[in-house]
Amino acid sequence: MSSAVPQAKSQQTVTMIDNATGKKFEFPVMEGTVGPRVVDIRKFYAETGMFTYDPGFTSTAACESAVTYIDGDKGVLLHRGYSIKELAEKSDFLEVCYLLLHGELPNKPQKTEFVTTITRHTMVHEQILSFFSGFRRDSHPMAVMVGTVGALAAFYHDSLDIDDPKQRELAAHRMIAKVPTIAALAYKYSIGQPFMHPRNDLNFSENFLYMTFGIPSEPYKVNPVLARAMDRIFILHADHEQNASTSTVRLAGSSRANPFACISSGIASLWGRAHGGANEAVLDMLHQIGDKSRIPEFIARSKDKNDTFRLMGFGHRVYKNYDPRAEIMRKTCKEVLDELGIKDDPLLDIAVELEKIALQDPYFIEKKLYPNVDFYSGIILKAMGFPTSMFTVLFAVARTVGWVSQWKEMIEEPTQRIGRPRQLYTGTPERPFLPMDKRK
Ligand code: ACO
Repeated sequence: MSSAVPQAKSQQTVTMIDNATGKKFEFPVMEGTVGPRVVDIRKFYAETGMFTYDPGFTSTAACESAVTYIDGDKGVLLHRGYSIKELAEKSDFLEVCYLLLHGELPNKPQKTEFVTTITRHTMVHEQILSFFSGFRRDSHPMAVMVGTVGALAAFYHDSLDIDDPKQRELAAHRMIAKVPTIAALAYKYSIGQPFMHPRNDLNFSENFLYMTFGIPSEPYKVNPVLARAMDRIFILHADHEQNASTSTVRLAGSSRANPFACISSGIASLWGRAHGGANEAVLDMLHQIGDKSRIPEFIARSKDKNDTFRLMGFGHRVYKNYDPRAEIMRKTCKEVLDELGIKDDPLLDIAVELEKIALQDPYFIEKKLYPNVDFYSGIILKAMGFPTSMFTVLFAVARTVGWVSQWKEMIEEPTQRIGRPRQLYTGTPERPFLPMDKRK
């Protein structure tokens, strides 16, 4: 397993002048391999007595990382230096998992060993199956995921010692292997079908489709086009730098919590509509629009400052250009719909028209709001037969490897400390306790 991240160089400095006191301060500037330079403000408070303020982390690098690189202006996404486009076209999901975890693409024996290891970890402890009956049948599967993945810590005690590299590796393998099984179990439970045990003769994505759509009473024939599309969707969602859920995992892990609890916290964060919940929200929105003739009305609403409505699947905190994943997803979408013979899908028609109109609209052009990865993934997943409630679950299945890789990187960093942001306090300063008879 790759060890700690290489330390960024720190040669230049920036000078800051506090205009209130006239005092001058100097801070080191760190340089990564690519991307913007970073001002090292670790001693900022000690030297200036002030905090920095950046609530949405728009200008703050919270860690050093060698896993994933994004250039949002150019629409670039690299995993360990390899472009997402090349990985989606030439690699497969488990190879990308190895790459994210270890830093290099596996050679043949390494790949065989890794695939075998993950395949042999796909079953879950039999007692975990009994959890499911505790949930209501109509539970959102993300609620089931948060609970069940967190509960893995109650079963796999031999992978909880985060100071032992072997146990960290075991936890990583277990999560990559078992999260898809749990996701499929959550789906089966929600529709009242029997649970399907994993099949070791199938590859990762084929097995996931089998566990989700197979039934015990007849053989399941894997459609290779759909299995490849599933694999590509997993690759495209595998990691994405320090997004909300990954930062949640890192913050949870920084207190040295167990890895299963950390990944469960990432799943919780992913659930939100502004993050992984967006693919589900895209489909809801397309249903809500209902007809191409109503698109202008919804575009107008998304631009209205007094309306909370936003075009789901558009915009990104980092990409101010076409999301490179969206381009691949668009192609995959066409392949899937062709394979399934879906020609006149009304939702797809609305999506295509919506994209066309939004890309020509001055508001979206000026604000650099392009379709993101979730704009197309919902349409593909719907065509493949997944209910919308499973969309974010599939995202979680794919992102587990990203979370695990980033968590490992953090734990292996020698200078790792608990994450503890500060605040700009705007509440009442200290005041005497008010007895009941004096309160209004
Ligand atoms: N529709 C209409 N207007 C939008 C949209 C949108 N989808 N997204 C951003 N804007 C506007 C905002 O109103 C804002 O306008 P203003 O400058 O006049 O106030 C401006 O663009 C910037 O938006 P912010 O909210 O400041 O951008 P931020 O980086 O905080 O948010 C986000 C990014 C959350 C992705 C946002 O674009 C959004 O809500 N998009 C829809 C949800 C979505 O698709 N999320 C998936 C993200 S990708 C992922 O998680 C895999």
